[in-house]
Amino acid sequence: MLHCTQISVAPWKKTFEDHLIKTGGTSAEFTIASVTASGLPSARMCMYRGFWGTLPKNKHNQLPKNPDIYESDCPVFVTDARMSKVYDVFATGKAKGDLAQSRSGSGGGGPIEAVFWFKDTKVQWRMRGKCWIMAADDIEGEDDRQNSEAITVRSEVSRFMRIREGSHYTERNKDWSWRQEIENIFENLSPMMRGSFKNPPPRQPLLQGKDEQSGEALGQTAGHLSEENLARKNFRVAIIAPEQVEALHLSDAAKPTRQIWTLAEEAGNPGGDQQRKSIGKWTKVDTWP
Ligand SMILES: Cc1cc2nc3c(=O)[nH]c(=O)nc-3n(C[C@H](O)[C@H](O)[C@H](O)COP(=O)(O)O)c2cc1C
Repeated sequence: MLHCTQISVAPWKKTFEDHLIKTGGTSAEFTIASVTASGLPSARMCMYRGFWGTLPKNKHNQLPKNPDIYESDCPVFVTDARMSKVYDVFATGKAKGDLAQSRSGSGGGGPIEAVFWFKDTKVQWRMRGKCWIMAADDIEGEDDRQNSEAITVRSEVSRFMRIREGSHYTERNKDWSWRQEIENIFENLSPMMRGSFKNPPPRQPLLQGKDEQSGEALGQTAGHLSEENLARKNFRVAIIAPEQVEALHLSDAAKPTRQIWTLAEEAGNPGGDQQRKSIGKWTKVDTWP
């Protein structure tokens, strides 16, 4: 259950979503950059999976759903705990997580920058913020008394979640489950994509082989996350908690424009004093491109 207050929609969100829909909606590709433990940049492509709290509709997904009561301004992508970006955001987060922690559960919070290029509208969007990693097994339930990282993730992400206008929040908030949301994000993937979380360890040299006993192999399919032990061990939902968003409009070559929105510190910017407050105000500056 969450205790979030009513906060307003980020001023850039509607335009961003309009551009996103024109480009392919939840299958939009973007580049995400993290910082390695040794301070080097590391970028790669990822697939956008919607905003946290607003699960994209998928007619193949028959799992029970959370009540439709929350929304946020945080883009979601999925990833594998064994990939470098997960360790990067653990190592560079406040808690300075080690490799073993990054592979064992929820946490992170290191800096990240996502870049979307929407060709149809000729707009480049950049989002800079923190990246939080969620694992289905520790994000809620009895274990979270021991797992302070999962508690931190929930509390940091909750700050960006607001009650969806017109929803029956008070009656239904107790039924909203973080684990169920993660299971549904997995269920929204194709069976082959779900199976990729049973691949042998990414980046491990082929000569070192794979753990056949645990079921590691390429080209597998997978079913529900709750029934897939190996995939569940590796599957992660990654959340971008944005602190600065920038739109560079290039549709008019003679008059390109650039806007930068920044979360105001007094409104709960994670870098500010009032860390526990819900996220509120964004300031906007129009700049030369
Ligand atoms: C079009 C495209 C989409 C991709 N989507 C994702 C994704 O959503 N999540 C992900 O972890 N990797 C995705 N990848 C793979 C990553 O680019 C990268 O190879 C992988 O995540 C390992 O990166 P890392 O070890 O630096 O973390 C995608 C690659 C391409 C080309």
